[in-house]
Amino acid sequence: MPEKKTYAIIGNPVKHSLSPQIHSYIYKQLGLPHSYKKIQLSTVQLKKFIIRCKKNDFQGFNVTIPYKVKIIPFLDKIEEQAAFIGAVNTVINENSVLRGFNTDVTGCTYALERSSWEQTGKVVILGAGGACQAALAALLNFTPSSVYIINRTPEKAGELKQKFSEYAKFDIYTENIKFKNIGQLLADSALLINTTPVGMWPYIQDSPVPEANMIPDHATVFDMVPNPLHTRLLQQSEQRNASTINGGIMLVSQAIAAQRIWLEQKLPETLFDKIYTYLTEYMSQYYE
Ligand code: ATR
Repeated sequence: MPEKKTYAIIGNPVKHSLSPQIHSYIYKQLGLPHSYKKIQLSTVQLKKFIIRCKKNDFQGFNVTIPYKVKIIPFLDKIEEQAAFIGAVNTVINENSVLRGFNTDVTGCTYALERSSWEQTGKVVILGAGGACQAALAALLNFTPSSVYIINRTPEKAGELKQKFSEYAKFDIYTENIKFKNIGQLLADSALLINTTPVGMWPYIQDSPVPEANMIPDHATVFDMVPNPLHTRLLQQSEQRNASTINGGIMLVSQAIAAQRIWLEQKLPETLFDKIYTYLTEYMSQYYE
């Protein structure tokens, strides 16, 4: 039996995080004795956690809201993608040297690769936070005709345009792109990505798109909200016969990417489908 290792997710709040279910299930599937804990921390406690981690109490951890950026000064090394985005969601402890990664980009890329969206079409992204940056970094692997970012605070969208335009083969539009014009923007779009938390539990009746008929039937709609899996936005998209990608696909895929870093081994191809089925069944208990 391999030596038991301990991993965790840190954040505030973390009560509703699905990561412990997913990672514990992975260890069970792989026959590993490792454990995965949920740790709620205040900003002051973050430093103490890092000291505990370096003493080898934890061999790695995931980071969620609000610490994906704040964790960076505590780390010894940052992988290139995470440094570019300026956010870390996975840390490995290598003999008290903490190295940070961003597996959200891998998760988003995988979700886009396995869907049948029209890859040369127009993309509309809602929101301009860290999740939008993961979406933009993932889109660098594709060839959309253009990307429009709609955000409540337009300046933030403008900053991301500046940051990504240098690397993108597509044009990014943020000026005068407003939520009130969302119907018009979506009419000829191939892909809509929601990176805002609108529709997340407990506000499950909310959607960032006011009317279902604004969603074109030929489009693909990717909602990064993982909880619930079947958000109001995805229900609207199904009403319109649009294709959908749910937040669970990205969540499972970024978790597998984290395990590849921690376990430093190839994982079975069948793992994604097994975890995804488990997650769907686990979550259906709450929304039936
Ligand atoms: P993350 O890093 O996970 O993306 P975030 O930085 O809080 O999280 O970003 C969430 C995005 O969703 C932000 O762009 C936020 O808009 P602001 O930049 O104006 O804050 C957007 N967002 C959050 N709540 C929203 C709401 N109720 N309606 C529309 N946009 C919202």
